[in-house]
Amino acid sequence: MKRIAVFASGNGTNAENLIIHFKSSNLVKIELILCNNADAYVLERAKIHGIKSVVFTKSELNLDNSIIDLLDSHNIDFIVLAGFLWLIPSSLITKYPKKIINIHPALLPKYGGKGMYGMHVHESVIEAGEVESGVTIHYVNDKYDEGENIFQARCGINDNDNADSLAKKIHALEHEYFPIIIEQEIIKI
Ligand code: GAR
Repeated sequence: MKRIAVFASGNGTNAENLIIHFKSSNLVKIELILCNNADAYVLERAKIHGIKSVVFTKSELNLDNSIIDLLDSHNIDFIVLAGFLWLIPSSLITKYPKKIINIHPALLPKYGGKGMYGMHVHESVIEAGEVESGVTIHYVNDKYDEGENIFQARCGINDNDNADSLAKKIHALEHEYFPIIIEQEIIKI
């Protein structure tokens, strides 16, 4: 059984989808939800499903060993970023080589980088008049959205779409594919 820590900053639909997907798995356990925002709804979702959650500060992530100690104390094998907005420090990347993955709501390398998250991404895609968007799942390195790609899935954008309707299409793709890709990666370790 491999133990996963999910880092999330906001609503947490992806985190909850993973919790539900892996509830009866004998391959993967969602062990911890780690969150940088005490008001994030993902914390409520974790509570509903009886998953431990921990809120941390930027200095706990970047300046001391408290996050690494926490991951060690839970024997975490793999880290999933599901709507997590802070950069991951290189100490964590070195400790988990090719074992930290992120989901991004666009077809990277387009619409990635600092500040490109959630609805900001969809608004930019619609404003640019793109005819398609999608999701990218990639390994995490120490730059925003620049790690090696693992997987992409696409969806069309039509004249009636706006940022909200695009977000719904993207979330549907994320919920469908993220658990499958995580399983594929977990089997490798
Ligand atoms: C997801 O669409 C995810 O791809 C995106 O945040 C959303 C979180 O939704 N991540 C980024 O934009 C990272 N740059 P959720 O809280 O409902 O899972």
